[in-house]
Parts: sequence; structure tokens; C-alpha cells
Amino acid sequence: MDAATVMARCDALQEHTEEPGKLTRRFATPALERATDAVEGWMREAGLTTRRDAVRNLFGRYEGARDDAPAFLLGSHLDSVPDGGRYDGPLGVLTALAVVERFAARGERLPFALEVCAFSDEESVRYGTTYLGSSAIAGAFGDDWLDRVDRDGIAMRDALRAVGGDPDAVASCARDPADTVGWLELHIEQGPALEAEGLPIGVVTGIQAQVRHRWEIRGQAGHAGTTPMAGRRDALAAGASLLLAVEEIGRGMSDLVATVGIIDAEPGAMNVIPGRVTLTTDIRHPDDVRLGAALDDVDGAAAAIAAERGVTISREELSGDPSVPCDARLRAVLHDAVEAEGFPARDLASGAGHDAAALARICPVAMLFLRCEGGISHNPAENVDELDVAIALDVMERALIDLGARP
Ligand code: GLV
Ligand code: MN
Ligand code: MN
Repeated sequence: MDAATVMARCDALQEHTEEPGKLTRRFATPALERATDAVEGWMREAGLTTRRDAVRNLFGRYEGARDDAPAFLLGSHLDSVPDGGRYDGPLGVLTALAVVERFAARGERLPFALEVCAFSDEESVRYGTTYLGSSAIAGAFGDDWLDRVDRDGIAMRDALRAVGGDPDAVASCARDPADTVGWLELHIEQGPALEAEGLPIGVVTGIQAQVRHRWEIRGQAGHAGTTPMAGRRDALAAGASLLLAVEEIGRGMSDLVATVGIIDAEPGAMNVIPGRVTLTTDIRHPDDVRLGAALDDVDGAAAAIAAERGVTISREELSGDPSVPCDARLRAVLHDAVEAEGFPARDLASGAGHDAAALARICPVAMLFLRCEGGISHNPAENVDELDVAIALDVMERALIDLGARP
């Protein structure tokens, strides 16, 4: 299976979107179901045995030398951010499928089965649940997740049922670690390093820690024309101060990134002082302890803003994921494979979250990054080169053969 087919399939999946003219494919939507059906069709054409689990993850299995052999897992996610690009997630699923197709076409069996995973939610756009699909198979599906509601008031359990999932059976998604050899995920780099260095591919060292919160700021709503400026308790002005404090803290610590991604003001009229604001923060650092210190700084800033502006500020943790190192042995195998294909094995840390972080709970994990144009991602301009995809397929295939040969 060649890179041109992978590129064509990434293009084809774009038509499965919630918003015409944009690629938006959130968890438990008909658009995601159609994309998953398309991938399932390609898996079946390749001779893989497919199955869906209770959270609508898709798996395609190619047996190993023995029918009861444990499985090595490969893949990524099929959901997208709003108005996203075509490669973030699908490239990992479709390169995994292409590599497994090569083994299937030759009838070559490894000591382990190969299982291509297409996860139903990694981006967490709809319910704020990081790595939902891979967490389900890692046995780490959050206790409160099914009760969460999206912006339209639809509870996850209802959304899941509507697309054929089974909210009462999420526990059945969990894999047995004893039956799971490892995880390999190819992903676009989503940053500029490989392109700047003229390298097609890199080996990921680990994924940084991240924590997400929803903040609520309560002030006092009032008439925009009659309420004097002195003494106002404007929740949105307080939210703006908090946003700028988060940015300043992000700039003030090396390697820290801190983002306010959503801000909502109520009641939301031009002539009403906002009385209530909710906003989200996403804060990340490669080091768990330093991330904790940054969060303490944000709490301190929030307390100062609340006191100064006469508002109350509270927060709820939506997700918290520690940093995850990639497995040393798998990394060494990837290094060898990249070098055998004629490239220097460049190590890279991941600033983005990936399904590998959830899977590290049950097996050794490894990742490859592929050069992407301008380092652009979470954007429709996301682009990769077909020649780089061809290199990735060869590296992945070589790494799997090497793993199969190592006791
Ligand atoms: C996923 O793309 C993330 O890092 O938020
Ligand atoms: Mn991704
Ligand atoms: Mn993403």
C-alpha cells in the first residue's frame, strides 16, 4: 500500500463533516460515524477483521503467527477540532492501515497480531474529555463523563446512544494489558522543528503534562447606561484580566504554554454589564511539578482579581494528565528504523496531547512525528508531503519487522 492511497484517503475523509465547507467532526456525530464507516470499509477490503466498541472506537485486526497472540496496536483518532485539518488523527489511522495492508498482502505473520485503532474522540471538543476513545480502552474512562452535557445541552450518554454506542457498556472497552504488546502512533508534528531542519520524520521522546479547567466568574449584571463605572462588578472585565494573567504566566516560565480557548459572557446583550462569565484554561509543561507551580500562580492571580473587582472566581478541573515518557526500547527500535531509511533520528518532545498518553497506562508507547508545512495544525491549511508519508510507511513497516524479530 502506497503513500498516494493514504493521501487520497485523507482527502476523501474530509467530506464527512458537520459543517459544509469546513472540516468539523466531533465525537458521537453522524459525520464521525460516516468517516468511521469509510475507514472500516477500507479495513475490510484489506482483509482485516473489524469491530466497534461501546464508545464507537473502530478496530481492524490482522492476526499474528498464532491466533491467540497478543496485539501490537497502531493508529490515532478520527475526530477533529472545529474547522480543522485533514491530517491530525486520520494520517495516523491511515498510515497504520497502509502498513498492516503490506503485511496482509504478503501474508506475512508477526509474533503478535496487528490491530489498527481509529479512536472516536481525542480532541475533547464536545465534552472536554481528553483522549476519550483511547482512555476507554485503557480502562480510564472518567466516572462523570457520561453525564457531561455539550453546549446544546445534550448529555454524552444520549449522544452516544444516538450513534449506536452503549453508555452502559463503556467498561467493556477496556483491554487486557497482558494482551497488549505496545502502541505506535504516527502524527503530524504540528510544529515547525522538522521542517526547519529539513527532516521528514522524528522520534517522540514524550508528551507533556496538561491540565484543563473551567472557570466561573460571578459579578453583578446591570444597566450599561445607568450604572456608574465606579463600583461595577463586571464579570467579563474580570475574565479579561484573568485571561491576560494566564497569558503573562505562560510567557513567564520557560516551556510553559497557557491558553484561554473559550470565553462566554452572560446575559450576552450589548446594553447589559456581564454578570457571569465562564472561561477555559489549558496549561501545559513537560514537567509535572512546574505545571503545578504555574497553576498555583494562576490561582493566586485569580484570587487577586476577585478581591480587586469584587467578583467571585471558582474553577472546576476538566482534565489533568501527567507527562508521559515514550518507551525507551520502542524508541530505540524507531531510531534504528529511521536511520536504516537513511535519515538522522531526531528526538522531539510533543507539545500536543496524543492517544499515546492514555495508552501508556496499559502498554509501552512510541510515536513518530511527520514534518508538516509551516508547522501549521488545527487549521484547514494543515499539509504534509506525499514523499514524507512514503518514508513514514517504510519506517513503520521496518520497525514492526524489527520488533517481531526481537525476543
Ligand atoms: C490535541 O490536539 C491537543 O493537544 O489538544
Ligand atoms: Mn491529534
Ligand atoms: Mn489535534
